[in-house]
Amino acid sequence: MRVAVLTGASGGMGFAVARRLGAEGYALVVNSRDPSLAVRRLEEEGYRAVGVAGDIAEEGTAGRILEAAEGFGRLDALLLNHGGPPVKAFLEVGDEEWRRWYEVMVVGPLRLLRLCVPLFRRSGGGRVVAIASFTVKSPYPGIVLSNALRAALVNALKTAALELGREGVLVNAVAPGYILTERIAEWNRGQAAREGVSPEEVAARTVAGIPLGRYGTPEEMAEAIAFLLSPRNGYITGQLLLVDGGLVVAN
Ligand SMILES: NC(=O)c1ccc[n+]([C@@H]2O[C@H](COP(=O)([O-])OP(=O)(O)OC[C@H]3O[C@@H](n4cnc5c(N)ncnc54)[C@H](OP(=O)(O)O)[C@@H]3O)[C@@H](O)[C@H]2O)c1
Repeated sequence: MRVAVLTGASGGMGFAVARRLGAEGYALVVNSRDPSLAVRRLEEEGYRAVGVAGDIAEEGTAGRILEAAEGFGRLDALLLNHGGPPVKAFLEVGDEEWRRWYEVMVVGPLRLLRLCVPLFRRSGGGRVVAIASFTVKSPYPGIVLSNALRAALVNALKTAALELGREGVLVNAVAPGYILTERIAEWNRGQAAREGVSPEEVAARTVAGIPLGRYGTPEEMAEAIAFLLSPRNGYITGQLLLVDGGLVVAN
């Protein structure tokens, strides 16, 4: 039996990946600050899942996640994910907020990957995917935390890919464009409030810039991620894969 660890997996894209891997027969270690409902849903669907509650930024969380994976005896796949940072412009973010989100988006995920490497080695290799954003390639005004910290994570992961490839650990990041999750509904409401327009207008403007003419679904993201996390991916590492419907960005 293959084993997957997924952080930020109680909702949105993370949960969709958990379901997708569950359907492929993986045993799942599901983390978020409260994964209890997600674990119950996965079990109801017949999948083997254990929850590890904890903020990815907190030092003890990674150790408890690893213990749960060790309980299954091996590790094959690791999804690094969490909720998005606040939508704030450059001048609105002070030192404290930079530090907090650096812990969530860079230190926490890298700590977990580092701790997982010995178990990957004992399992004969593994696959790692982090969920980043299209803004790594095209920084977008008004979301400086995301623009900066995701770029830091992606470059650290690229380094890990270069160093761990010979041990059979393949490390990639995926960059969603606009995927319909609660995060996007919240984003549209916030953007609408700032501009004094309706959320529907914001959504229509977004869709106008997507050649496929619609938002993506969490299941479509999960399909791409599940491939990168599986042994079917034999030769892709160190990449940032855009899953964005061909999104046209201004810069
Ligand atoms: N949706 C999009 O179109 C889009 C586009 C570009 C980038 N992204 C980014 O992709 C990531 C996933 O997006 P999504 O739309 O699937 O998000 P989402 O629906 O908000 O789900 C986020 C998940 O992460 C968990 N989480 C939040 N903070 C956490 C923390 N500190 N430690 C551990 N788990 C945490 C949440 O559960 P708990 O509340 O239980 O912790 C939830 O399961 C986010 O970083 C988002 O900014 C999304």
